[in-house]
Amino acid sequence: MQITAEQGDITTAQVDAVVNAANSTLLGGGGVDGAIHTAAGPRLLEACEELRRTTLPDGLGVGDAVVTPGFDLPAAWVVHTVGPNRHRGETDPDLLTSCFRQSLGVAADAKSRTVAFPAVSAGAYGWDADDVARIALEAVRAWDDENPAAIDAVRFVLFSAGVLGAFERALEG
Ligand code: APR
Repeated sequence: MQITAEQGDITTAQVDAVVNAANSTLLGGGGVDGAIHTAAGPRLLEACEELRRTTLPDGLGVGDAVVTPGFDLPAAWVVHTVGPNRHRGETDPDLLTSCFRQSLGVAADAKSRTVAFPAVSAGAYGWDADDVARIALEAVRAWDDENPAAIDAVRFVLFSAGVLGAFERALEG
C-alpha cells in the first residue's frame, strides 16, 4: 500500500473513496463535512437521510464508518466516519484508530483501490494534529498488514501546511 500526504481540498481528490469527517447525525456540518456535502450535491444528504430512516436510526457511532455514493464528487464513494470529539471528553485513541480502520474496511468492501482521508478530529473535534497523524498512520499500516493488497493507495489530503507537516513528520518517523 502506498501512503502519502499532500496539501489540498479533499473534495477534488481523484480517488475511488473519499473519507468524510462527519458527525453522528450524518446530516452535514462544517469543515470537511460541509465541503463534501457541497461538492457532492444534495443527493448526498438524501442518501444520509435514507440511512437514518433505515439502517442507522440512531445515527453513526464514534469510530464507526458507513459508505454512500459520491454523487457529484470525482470519487465514486464517500465513507462517512465520526471521529472522537475531545471537547466531549472523547480522548481514547482507540476511537480514532477505529475511524481509520473501519473506513478502510468499508472502502475495501466497496471495491475501492484508492482512498483519501482528511485529518479526522483535528479540526472542530479538537485533537492535536500530531496525535491524529501518528494514530492514523499506525492504524493504516496495521490494517494493511492484516489486509494485504486490499487497497493500493491511501492519500492523506490536508487543508493546511501545519497539518501537512504533522503527517510528513509521522511518515518519516
Ligand atoms: N479538504 C481537506 N481537509 C479539510 C477540508 C477540505 N475541504 N476542510 C477542512 N479540512 C480539514 C480541517 O482543517 C481539519 O484539519 O479537515 C480536518 C478535520 O476538521 P473538521 O472538518 O472540523 O472535522 P473534525 O475535527 O473531525 O470535526 C467534525 O465538524 O464539520 C463538522 O459535521 C462535522 O460535527 C462534525 C465536526
